[in-house]
Amino acid sequence: MLATTGAPDSEPQEIPGGPGPAVSVRAVGHSFGELVALERIDLELPAGGVLGIVGPSGCGKSTLLEIVSGLTEPDSGEISILGAAPGPDGRLARSVLMPQRDLLLPWLSALDNAALGLSLGGASRQDARERAGGDFERLGLGGFEQARPQELSGGMRQRVAFLRTLVSGKQVLLLDEPFASLDAITRAETQAWLAGVLAADSHTVLLVTHDVEEALYLSDRVAVLTPRPGRVAATIEVPSPRAPDRAAAVTSTGFVELRERALRLLAGEAA
Ligand SMILES: Nc1ncnc2c1ncn2[C@@H]1O[C@H](COP(=O)(O)OP(=O)(O)O)[C@@H](O)[C@H]1O
Ligand SMILES: [Mg+2]
Repeated sequence: MLATTGAPDSEPQEIPGGPGPAVSVRAVGHSFGELVALERIDLELPAGGVLGIVGPSGCGKSTLLEIVSGLTEPDSGEISILGAAPGPDGRLARSVLMPQRDLLLPWLSALDNAALGLSLGGASRQDARERAGGDFERLGLGGFEQARPQELSGGMRQRVAFLRTLVSGKQVLLLDEPFASLDAITRAETQAWLAGVLAADSHTVLLVTHDVEEALYLSDRVAVLTPRPGRVAATIEVPSPRAPDRAAAVTSTGFVELRERALRLLAGEAA
């Protein structure tokens, strides 16, 4: 269903500044009034890498993604994306955020929903539709171009929302709990689907989830955050992520050990 050949529709952006990290977060802290959401977060992500971020509900994961995207300026610390000058504008230009809630508009077709980011960004309706439509088949959405969101399954809706993110052409994808609303079986299928997409195209991805298994399956490296205020408790390296056979991958001995380690960290035990 998912073709792995063919040029991606969107051209990844050039990476200025040489082989440094594509995303760097240095000593970032943020509060909402009295409530300290994030404390001294340090993260680094090479170009083409996938960094998972797991942590309990309310520990500041969505806030962190909004900060990295440029939608929120942190109280302290520095973020750089692809060598962009400090400041939110550079980050907004180089990254795209897939928000936690499925924001498909019910009165638009799947195609127009996928094309929405491009239209809002100034592309003509036809150009936007052509660029988004070119990826429908490749992402397993062929034939559903004219379907309304309410006619699609939860898994298909998430694919459309992901396609909207992908066709932005931005190199850095910030995914906030992309599969949280899906049932367990659809969720596993959609994770394997995303693994295939990421194997076919090189993207730099920050993947926020509260699901340890999802993070360990999809990411090269997983940062485990503490309960609020979110801090990085530890970072776990994943030896061979995104194996095509997901069921076999997540039941292997090595994977189960990593999952137990991550769960101990989440429970507040030392690594
Ligand atoms: N705009 C806001 N104003 C006040 N508090 C906020 C705001 N956004 C988030 N928070 C609070 O900050 C904490 C972290 O929120 P969030 O980043 O959404 O956590 P997570 O995504 O890990 O569940 C929570 O306690 C939340 O209630
Ligand atoms: Mg959140």
